Amino acid sequence: MATILDGKKLRDKILVDLEQKISTFEHKPKLVVILVGDNPASQIYVGNKQKCAQKIGIISEVVHYSSDIEENVLINKIHELNNDKSVTAILVQLPLPKHISKINVIDAIAPKKDVDGFTPYNFGKLFSGEKPYVYPCTPKGILLLLDEYGIDIAGKHAVVVGRSNIVGHPMSQMLLNRNATVTVCHSHTRNLAQITKTADILVSAVGKNIIKGEMLKSGCVVIDVGIFKDGSGKLHGDVEFEPSSKIASYISPVPGGVGPMTIASLMLNTVELFENNL
Ligand code: GUN
Repeated sequence: MATILDGKKLRDKILVDLEQKISTFEHKPKLVVILVGDNPASQIYVGNKQKCAQKIGIISEVVHYSSDIEENVLINKIHELNNDKSVTAILVQLPLPKHISKINVIDAIAPKKDVDGFTPYNFGKLFSGEKPYVYPCTPKGILLLLDEYGIDIAGKHAVVVGRSNIVGHPMSQMLLNRNATVTVCHSHTRNLAQITKTADILVSAVGKNIIKGEMLKSGCVVIDVGIFKDGSGKLHGDVEFEPSSKIASYISPVPGGVGPMTIASLMLNTVELFENNL
C-alpha cells in the first residue's frame, strides 16, 4: 500500500513556524485578495486564504467586485495597491469574467507584490531557470511535500498532466529545474496511458477523473491536484484512489493532499515578499 502524502500535517507544521516568525515582526505583512464575481469555488478558496492568513498574524483584506466590473477599474485598484506601502502582497483570484483580460490584470501587479508568482516578470524568471520573487503556490507546495517525504526528483521521469498557468506549466518547469526529465500531457495528447505508465512521478492537474490504476507504473509517486464534487457532493480528485494506492509507493489524497499545501505556500510567499521588501 502506498504511503499517504499528508498535506494537512505538513501545512500545520509550516503554519506553526510562520506564526512564530510573524510574531517577531514589528510591522506585519498585508495580503490583499481581489475577488471578482460570485464563483462559489473562488469564494470558498478566498475565504480559506483569508482565515488562514489572519490566524497566523498576516493582515488580510478581500476586495470584492461584482462580475460586471470594467477592466480599467480593476487595473486602477491594482495600481493603487502597488503604491500602498502597507500592502506587501496582492493576489487576483482566478478565473476572471470573460470580458476582462487576465493578462492585462496580472501584468498590472508589481512583481515584488505578486504573491502567486504569475506576472510576466516572475514567470519569465522561472522559465529562464532564475529565481523569481516567489514561485507559484500549488507547484511550490507539491515540491515541499515531495521533499518532506524524502522523494528524489533528479533524474526521474516526471509526467505532468495539464498545462494551465496556475499548475501544470509552472510545475513542469520547476520539476525541470530540479533535474527531472519532464513530459507534459494535455487534451491533445495521444496514448496518455502509455506515457503515464512510464512516469516515476505523476502530477495530474486536470479537474476530471482521468487517471486509473492501470495507467500507473508500479512504485510510482502520484500527486493529485484535481478537485471536484460529484452529484452527491462528495469531493474527488483526478486519480482513482483505491486501485492507484495499491500500485503507487506514495500518493496524495483529495482532500488533504495538495490543497492544504497551496494555502501553506501562499502564506510562505506572503512572508517571503514581506521580508524581501524590508
Ligand atoms: N484559482 C485557482 N487556484 C488559484 C491560485 O493558486 N491563484 C489564483 N490567483 N487563483 C487561483
